[in-house]
Amino acid sequence: HAETYLPTGAVLIEEFLSGPEVSLFFLSDGDTVRPLSPAQDFKRALDGDQGPNTGGMGAYSPLPWLADQFGSVDAFVDEVTETVAKPVIAELDRDGSPFIGLLYAGLIITEQGVRVIEFNARFGDPETQIVLPRLQTSLAELLMAAATGTLEDQPRPVFSDDVAVTVVLASEGYPASAVTGREITGLDEAAAVEGVHITHAATALEGDTLIATGGRVLNVVGTGSTFAIARSRAYEAIAKIGLEGGQFRTDIAAQVA
Ligand code: GLY
Repeated sequence: HAETYLPTGAVLIEEFLSGPEVSLFFLSDGDTVRPLSPAQDFKRALDGDQGPNTGGMGAYSPLPWLADQFGSVDAFVDEVTETVAKPVIAELDRDGSPFIGLLYAGLIITEQGVRVIEFNARFGDPETQIVLPRLQTSLAELLMAAATGTLEDQPRPVFSDDVAVTVVLASEGYPASAVTGREITGLDEAAAVEGVHITHAATALEGDTLIATGGRVLNVVGTGSTFAIARSRAYEAIAKIGLEGGQFRTDIAAQVA
């Protein structure tokens, strides 16, 4: 409902959306839409969402609890594809600005159903770190099909039954004022944990020394057949990494493990 409150212009009053947030990515070639797998990120610093907003302190995928409201995770993905992604892509096409690329739908799952809170024309961070490891279809082929208008020839992307959890290692002081330039150690030991890999975000080599160059430094990604396994792997690995003043949340994906 839009109402004018100020003499200088309109103020848009938006419906308050209460419920868990879900990120779902779609590939589009301007016409055909193909969904990826849902993920949830943890936007606030500190366990229990007690800290300030950040770029994202961790994430997990898929979201088994979606089955409670939608019957299955696939049914949720189908519903969002039909009611959100396809109409948006069709409207952009009608407008003469076909959307070719990665559509990120930020959704709130309210008691009344799915609501859109935002769209981004990019992959999400840190959701991408746990969606792509589960993707079994070739990402390169999907991106090429989106870029060349041949997504219709691509079957729906297939995802592993394995789950993935990522925990972000952040610098001291992040997000207000991150302390940078500190040495990072233990990455080889961390990456040697079964089912774990590390993605770098704000790191650089100074000679032979790896240093942190920003707020969110790296992501430790744990995969496994269950959330209990994937998250214990991620936390076993992050405990091996040294960064003076480094901080991470200890409750990523705790509610599903
Ligand atoms: N995960 C939030 C974003 O990428 O905007």
